[in-house]
Amino acid sequence: MDIEEQNASGKARAVDCAILPLFEKIPFKDQASFLSGHAPWVLTNPALRDFSGKKDEQALIHGNGDEPWPRLLLWGLGKEDKCALADLRNAVAGAVKFCRDRSFSTLGLPVEGLDMFVRKGLATDRDILLREAVVAALLGLCRNDFYRSGPSEDEELPADPERLIFIFAEKEVPEKSSLALRLGAGEAKGVLTARRLGNTPANLLPPAALAGEARRIAENYSFSCRIFDEEQIRDMGMGALYAVGRGSRNGPRLALIEHCPKGKENTAPLVIAGKGITFDSGGISLKPPANMHEMKSDMGGAAAVLGLFTAVGEAPDRERLPRIIGIIAAAENMPGGNAGRPGDIVTTYSGKTVEILNTDAEGRLVLCDALAYAQKELNPAALIDLATLTGACVIALGDYGSGLFSADEALRAAVLEAAGQSGDLVWPMPLWDEYDKNLKSELADMVNIGPREGGAIHAALFLRRFIEKRTRWAHLDIAGPGCVTKSAPLLPVPGATGVGVRLLCRLLRDTGFTLH
Ligand code: BES
Ligand code: ZN
Ligand code: ZN
Repeated sequence: MDIEEQNASGKARAVDCAILPLFEKIPFKDQASFLSGHAPWVLTNPALRDFSGKKDEQALIHGNGDEPWPRLLLWGLGKEDKCALADLRNAVAGAVKFCRDRSFSTLGLPVEGLDMFVRKGLATDRDILLREAVVAALLGLCRNDFYRSGPSEDEELPADPERLIFIFAEKEVPEKSSLALRLGAGEAKGVLTARRLGNTPANLLPPAALAGEARRIAENYSFSCRIFDEEQIRDMGMGALYAVGRGSRNGPRLALIEHCPKGKENTAPLVIAGKGITFDSGGISLKPPANMHEMKSDMGGAAAVLGLFTAVGEAPDRERLPRIIGIIAAAENMPGGNAGRPGDIVTTYSGKTVEILNTDAEGRLVLCDALAYAQKELNPAALIDLATLTGACVIALGDYGSGLFSADEALRAAVLEAAGQSGDLVWPMPLWDEYDKNLKSELADMVNIGPREGGAIHAALFLRRFIEKRTRWAHLDIAGPGCVTKSAPLLPVPGATGVGVRLLCRLLRDTGFTLH
């Protein structure tokens, strides 16, 4: 679906259906007086009197066929004082899907209908609403039917609408508003990229293919990209990443992708590292069979990195962003004749040695080499990693919560602020020194697992052992929200969510966070 805009000076384009989100208990004339210009017929329509505006109440009103807006879809937002940005997102996503179900092809969204959110103090800025409406509309149409040979019998979806036109009342669409619409489309594309990768089965997305996606995105958007293969990983001394990847016929990869605006070549970059386990069987410490297939999404951190670069690549103002480097540590964690074993001791890229007691704690192993590489080679102004790291984090924070671990107050506050804006549930978790001794090894510098209790903290503390004192670092454990089993308005098909993409976009653009 294309996102288009229309100003008030040109001839009004006909739409199949105009979408109008409305609060409960506020007289229609106060919320939508502007309709008298576009669709005066609606004001006398008895359907209006029947519509209360309760949350998710819907009414499709038909007017005359030769009107520019022959149909109006009213969508209830519920009470104004209980309404938040998420409710607007859900309403837009629901309304667009409603229109798809009826095969409407050109949709309209009167921007004046969004202005009341600003007037009522629910948002500070109309351009935020525009961006979020685009994101919601595009994510609401998300489907996952790449792998069917034909339409499925039970849920044959009509084609997506061709376009959603944002209808402005201004003679000229403000430049900032145009930008907001394009940013929204780019961010949605980033999230959809991350979801597609997360949902791709492991036989179709081995580590080399995941790294190949980084290359493809880099070529598409003129980023630079570098990929190390299995042999190079071993020879460079990334013993931990190598140990995880060696059990699979599909060898590990380390992919680097960089956005460097002109003139920023000598600035310290923001580095984002992602866990890219294309399948986590547990290795020799094999997982139980139930739901093991979900471990095809154990590359949600890497997917978020690639989603972010997609969004950055799509952004018309990308040159204004800081220098950003993504690192993807990709491996397939498999048992086999060449697999690493419990008890193996490996030397990591940092030089520190690790006694691998459980091959299923592989995320921290691939990440520790990526983090050490970043600090040794990339001079990060800040280093953030995202990883579907521990089941313990899901126990602690539930299916939708991400754990945030960081000793850097400013960075931590910025990530929490970004999460508030993107609508992600992120909660600060501790990095207690007292627990670090649980990682002591009799033989090597450390073991790769701690006690089950506080498992997410022990994993984070393991990573912290590879963080130098001067490095600003934050770790996001996204094991819960990386992949979910329930659908939602912005996630019509359960599975990989693309969590992290929008959060990182907000962090880059809309928090006070600065790198230097
Ligand atoms: N990929 C898993 C963590 C995970 C669990 C992600 C559930 C998404 C949903 C990770 O590699 C893992 O297996 N962690 C182990 C660590 C343990 C062996 C110390 C875990 O959480 O059980
Ligand atoms: Zn594992
Ligand atoms: Zn894993």
